[in-house]
Amino acid sequence: MSDKTTKGRGSWGSRIGFMLAASGSAIGLGNLWKFPYITYKFGAGAFVLVYLFCIALVGLPIMIAETMIGRRAGLNPVGAFKKLAPSKLWVAVGGLGVVCGFVLLSYYSVVAGWAIEYTVKSVRHDFSNHEKITDKEIGAHLFSEYTKTPKSKFDPIRAGYGNELATISFYDLKDDKKKKAFRAGLAKAWAAFEKGKPEAFAKLKTNTIGSLLDAFQRGDGYAERKLRMQRTLWVASLFGQFVKNPAKVIGWHLLFMTLTMLIVVGGVSAGIERASKILMPTLFVMLIYLVIRALGFQSAGESLAMVFRPNFHALTGEAVLEALGHSFFTLSLGMGAMLTYGSYLSKDASLTRASLVITALDTLIALMATIIIFCAIHAFKMPVSDGGVSNLFRAIPAMFQETPGGNWLTLMFYLLVAFAALTSTISLLEVVVSYFIDERGWSRKKATLLMGTAIAVLGIPSALSLNAWSNFKPLFGKTVFDFFDYTVSNWFLPLGGLFVALFVGWVLPEKDKRDELEGLNKLAFSAWHFAIRFVAPTAVGGVFVWLIYKSIVD
Ligand code: PHE
Repeated sequence: MSDKTTKGRGSWGSRIGFMLAASGSAIGLGNLWKFPYITYKFGAGAFVLVYLFCIALVGLPIMIAETMIGRRAGLNPVGAFKKLAPSKLWVAVGGLGVVCGFVLLSYYSVVAGWAIEYTVKSVRHDFSNHEKITDKEIGAHLFSEYTKTPKSKFDPIRAGYGNELATISFYDLKDDKKKKAFRAGLAKAWAAFEKGKPEAFAKLKTNTIGSLLDAFQRGDGYAERKLRMQRTLWVASLFGQFVKNPAKVIGWHLLFMTLTMLIVVGGVSAGIERASKILMPTLFVMLIYLVIRALGFQSAGESLAMVFRPNFHALTGEAVLEALGHSFFTLSLGMGAMLTYGSYLSKDASLTRASLVITALDTLIALMATIIIFCAIHAFKMPVSDGGVSNLFRAIPAMFQETPGGNWLTLMFYLLVAFAALTSTISLLEVVVSYFIDERGWSRKKATLLMGTAIAVLGIPSALSLNAWSNFKPLFGKTVFDFFDYTVSNWFLPLGGLFVALFVGWVLPEKDKRDELEGLNKLAFSAWHFAIRFVAPTAVGGVFVWLIYKSIVD
C-alpha cells in the first residue's frame, strides 16, 4: 500500500481508531432519528423484519466489500476504481458516490442542527414550561384525537381539520398569513364536505369539545393525566414552533457544517478518535437507561408488540425499498464513506471482524432507539401530525420530564445525538474532500472550505422544506428535503452498493479477496463470497426491477 499515489494521506492512529471512526460514521441520525421515524411511518412489524434481513444478507457483506476496495487501493472512491479497474463504468460508480455524499450531507446537516437547538432548549429548561398549555388547547387536542378514531365515523377531511385545529391553536395563532391560509383551506373543505351546512358542523364541534373536556376532567387521576397531557402537547408545540422558524433552522445547519469542516480540515484526526472513545460509550449507556425507563411504562407490552409483531399487510413495495435503502444509509454504504475510511486502514486489521462489530452495534442502537420512542409515544399518547419526523424530539424530553434531574439528562442526550451526527457528517465530507485531494491535487484546506461551503448552501432548500417552502413540492410531490432523502437513500445508495457487490464479486481477482480476508476460515469466506456474488445483487436488483415494473404497470 505504499506506492506514490497513496503516500502521505494519513492513517488511523490505532486499529481501534478505524473501528471507532467507522462506527461513528454508521451510528448517527439514521439510528436515533430516521429508523424509528420510518418504522413508525411504515407501520413497524414486518418493516423491522425486512430491515434486519437486509442488514444481515446485504449490508454486512457489502460493508466488507467496500472497506476491502478502499484498503486495497488506498484512495478515494473515484481513485480507487481507477486504480483497481480503470474502466469508465466503475470510475463513474465512484463518482456517483462522491455526488451522493455531497447531497446527503446537505440535508443530513439540517437535522443535525435540530439536535443543537434541542441542546440549547435543554440548557434553557424550555421543556418544563408545560403549564403554558391551557384547557382550551387540551380540548382542541382531544377533539382532534376524537376525530381520528374510527368510532366517531368522521371523514378524513374532518379528521384533518381537527388535527389542524389542534396544531394551529398553539403554533400559528400569531401568524396572520398562516391563519389566513388555514381559514381558506378550511372554507374549501367545508364547501366540499358540508354542502352548505357549516353551522351544523361548527355546533357539533363545540359540543364535542365541551363533552370531551368534561369527560377528561371528571375521570380518575385527573391531575396526573392533565400534567402528562400538558407535557405531551408542550413538547409537540416546541418542535412545531422551532421547525417553522427558517432563520433558526438555517442557522444551526450552517453552524453544524462549520463544525464538520473544522474537524475535517484537521485530517484523519486523533481528535475524533479520542472523542469517540468517550462519547460513543456514553451514548450507549444512556440508551440502556432509557430502554429500561421505556419498558417501565404500562403500555410497553403493546408498544413492543407493535414494533416486533410482523404485519405483512402493511408491507408495500415502497416499504421494502425503504427498508433496503435504510440498511445502506444506516451502515454508511453505497457512496464510498466506508471505502474512504478503509483507505486509511492498515493491512493487519481484520475487515470481517470490524464489519461485524460495526453492523451489530449499529443495529442494536437502532433497535434500542425504536423501542424507546415507540414506548414513549404510546405511553404519552403523543399526537403525530408530521408523520413521525418529530418523534425523537418529543418522546425524549417528555420522558425525561418525568425523571428527577430530567433537564440535565435531556441536555446530555441531545449533546450526544449531536455528537453522533457529527461523527457521521465528518465521514460524509471526508469522501468529497478526499476526492478533491487525491484526484484534483487540491490542498485539504481548500477542498474542505470550498466543498463544505457549497454543501452548506445546497442544504438551505432542505432547511426550508418544513417551513417557508413546505408547500413547494417541485419533484414527484415531495419537498426538497424529502426528495433528496428519497432519491439518495432509497435509490442511489442501493445502486452504489449493487455495483460494489458486482465489482468485488465478479471483477476483483479472487487472489486479492483472499489476501484481504486472510485469516478468515474457508467456510466463512465462501459464505461471504456467495452473498456478495449472488444474494446482494439479486436482492437489490430484484427490488429495483419489481418497483420499476410495478410503476409501469400501475
Ligand atoms: N450512517 C449514518 C447514519 O446512520 C449516515 C451516513 C450515511 C453517514 C452515509 C455516512 C454515509 O446516521
